Amino acid sequence: MRLAIHKEEGSFSDHWVDYCENKHISYKIVNCYDSDIISQLNDCEGLLWHWNHNDYRAALCARQLTLSLEKSGVKVFPDVNTAWHFDDKVGQKYLLEAVNAPLVKSHVFYTKLDALKWLNQVTFPKVFKLRGGAGAVNVSLVKNKAKGRQLINKAFGKGFSHINRLNRLKDRVWELKRDKDFAAFKKVLTGLARIFIPTEVERYSHNEKGYIYFQDFIPDNDSDIRLVVVGERCFGMRRYCRDGDFKASGSGLKSFDPSIIGTECVKIAFEVAQKLNLQSVAFDFIKNGNNYQIIEISYCFVSTQFPGFWDKTYKWHSVVVSPQFSMVEDFMENLKIKQ
Ligand SMILES: Nc1ncnc2c1ncn2[C@@H]1O[C@H](COP(=O)(O)OP(=O)(O)O)[C@@H](O)[C@H]1O
Ligand SMILES: [Mg+2]
Repeated sequence: MRLAIHKEEGSFSDHWVDYCENKHISYKIVNCYDSDIISQLNDCEGLLWHWNHNDYRAALCARQLTLSLEKSGVKVFPDVNTAWHFDDKVGQKYLLEAVNAPLVKSHVFYTKLDALKWLNQVTFPKVFKLRGGAGAVNVSLVKNKAKGRQLINKAFGKGFSHINRLNRLKDRVWELKRDKDFAAFKKVLTGLARIFIPTEVERYSHNEKGYIYFQDFIPDNDSDIRLVVVGERCFGMRRYCRDGDFKASGSGLKSFDPSIIGTECVKIAFEVAQKLNLQSVAFDFIKNGNNYQIIEISYCFVSTQFPGFWDKTYKWHSVVVSPQFSMVEDFMENLKIKQ
């Protein structure tokens, strides 16, 4: 059996390569951006590729390559089911609604008229989001109708840059206040420069326009719950909001204490992951009254180590695990079964 890994420093591939080395699993390193990648994978049964939204090239080809490889019988991580909706909150809205998953009430419009009609009937605040982005940089509160109208005009006018540069800079200033170190200071400086000099992903991406996406605002959450399901394991943490803000993602303030995460939430995570046949999924949950609701999902995430996990009977196991190892473990198991 031959395994291929797309290697990129700082990505999940670091862990996958470590895993294969430790277990003496043979693999070859490939570059999924090579034009002849399909023929390079002719002698492989499986491909592991951690692609993400920071690389404009992945947005251009990762979904297409994955589907094509699956047609040729090559197994891929992440597979089509797991990744087609990655960095696409609008896609996730349809998918989660289709399986009756408890998604925060979400609204999408494709004409200015429809969006304005809706705006005239709703209460505030609402949450505005671009379909892509992470770390809360493309998420903001719409406090009133005037702000909503302004966003709608922009969505059906010149559109939004792929990344909200001002939010990114504000976030970095906040990080500097939090960490008070040189690394954070440097990030503020690059954030400042990035107001004027776009990143590669911004330069090669089209503006976001022709649609607008809102969610109902769920009040009284000082944190969100991040649960990651990989196969039979669920990993979790609570992430706290920035001071005076409703956004937790990207704050870096977190607790891994399992006792502050409700079993009900773990149950929903396992159920939805199974229903959608996902190899790996990170959920963001918040609490609406007594119910946990999903904000968004994503096949990949930042954390590489958790102090334990829940199994499918919701039993907690205190053992330091890396979900990235579980990914490759499950993947290899699956390849063996399919042989
Ligand atoms: N509908 C909502 N109601 C209340 N808080 C929300 C809502 N949506 C998002 N948030 C908060 O904002 C943060 C970022 O939102 P999210 O959709 O997860 O964007 P990102 O992809 O940038 O992480 C979440 O971690 C959560 O704390
Ligand atoms: Mg999030």
